[in-house]
Amino acid sequence: MFTSLILAAGMGTRMKSKMPKVIHKVCGKELVRWVIDASRVAGADEVITVIGHKADSVRPVIENDARIAIQSEQLGTGHAVMMAKEHITDGCVVILAGDTPLIRAETIKAAVEYHAAQGNSATVITAEMDDATGYGRIVRGADGSVLRIVEQKDASEEEKAIKEINSGMYVFDGADLKDALGKLTPNNAQGEYYLTDTLEILRGDGKKIGGYTISDNDEIRGINNRVQLSEAEAVMQERINKYHMMNGVTIIEPKSVFISADAEIGADTIIASNVTIEGETKIGEDCVIEMGSKLTDAQLGDGVHVTSSVIIKSSIGDGTSVGPFAYVRPGCRIGKNVKVGDFVEVKNDVIGDGTKISHLTYLGDSDIGKNVNFGCGTVTCNYDGKDKFRSTIGNDVFVGCNTNFVSPVKVGDGAYIAAGSTITDDIPDKSLAIARSRQTNKTDWKGNKYAK
Ligand code: UD1
Ligand code: MG
Repeated sequence: MFTSLILAAGMGTRMKSKMPKVIHKVCGKELVRWVIDASRVAGADEVITVIGHKADSVRPVIENDARIAIQSEQLGTGHAVMMAKEHITDGCVVILAGDTPLIRAETIKAAVEYHAAQGNSATVITAEMDDATGYGRIVRGADGSVLRIVEQKDASEEEKAIKEINSGMYVFDGADLKDALGKLTPNNAQGEYYLTDTLEILRGDGKKIGGYTISDNDEIRGINNRVQLSEAEAVMQERINKYHMMNGVTIIEPKSVFISADAEIGADTIIASNVTIEGETKIGEDCVIEMGSKLTDAQLGDGVHVTSSVIIKSSIGDGTSVGPFAYVRPGCRIGKNVKVGDFVEVKNDVIGDGTKISHLTYLGDSDIGKNVNFGCGTVTCNYDGKDKFRSTIGNDVFVGCNTNFVSPVKVGDGAYIAAGSTITDDIPDKSLAIARSRQTNKTDWKGNKYAK
């Protein structure tokens, strides 16, 4: 039971971006949302995010997940917390940074528990670093308590040699924090209100300040530039891939597989090289996702086989195979045991169980029944240059090769379409449709210039 306060008002100048830093993404999720989610999983009952720089573009990303406080001028980390003062309750408050997405929920929880067990007024989350450059250094007293934090720019040579650093994350007693904020002054090298100075203030008031040292330094990696962004991506991707592997998913070459934070994958599914799984994709059990596939917000049942294909915002039933080189565009509901073969594009279709679309076909805006067989080179002509039209094709229809459906048309159950037909009229159930000119043979013709 605690409040989480996330500082995310900074400029992020070093990202060299039009976007504020905290909405850049790692594994498909914004930096600040990683921190919000970790807070929630750790048990935060209130999450407040302090935003400022380009707040209008951060707000829509987080307003469903967190409360917002605005710091319109960035006068330091202490000042940022002051801007959220009205939201700070007297209970436990965890302060985190919006650009530190690798922090784990378990770590937040453990720090909160440590803080309570020690009876601390404030607990700093610290780490040991071989190279502490740029970080605030932790100055500990003989009894192990934290005396103060000294920023790099304010540190003496002796203090600069300290290896224990401030992660920028803290647990506070809310009432004490509010007291100390009231006494903060910007008397330092940067002329900023340092949140870290509250510790010294609290200690002066006889309060107990502790340090909780973590062992995995990856968790406190702050992101300031695109290099660090890519490093965080690699660490997070490894965590995500390991999570799925531990759940029974085979990932043949994890370094080349990108899986979003929100994806779900069933056991005994096999993922080959160079696969990207984006957004809220759900993959069932016993699927095979072969090389070079990209799935975005896709829903796959069990036993689905996808080879070198793209699937976007569509659902695929059990036992269906897609590809190689198929393009499943948004809005498709594809049934069970369907074949969507090579060089097939489907868009905004409902496709019944057992239907085969084996090769070189475009089907758009169509309702297609069960066990339909599409010959090679079928095309729905669904667009007249202005409007889109839907066609309906019944069950058990046989579509000969090179058929065009000039939408809207309705094809009855069990209909049979001769190859090369351009269908412009509805076809009744169980009928043969032939819509092509008859072949004429000129016998004994002498015009073949090619023939020797
Ligand atoms: C801070 C700590 C330092 C610690 C380091 C860890 C202070 C004074 N120093 O330094 O001890 O080792 O983090 O990374 O706190 N922010 C605001 N408003 C502001 C200023 C900052 O919201 O006015 C936010 C930033 O967006 C960022 C976080 O606070 O998410 C940390 O700010 P930053 O300027 O990066 O602090 P550091 O100088 O790195
Ligand atoms: Mg920083």
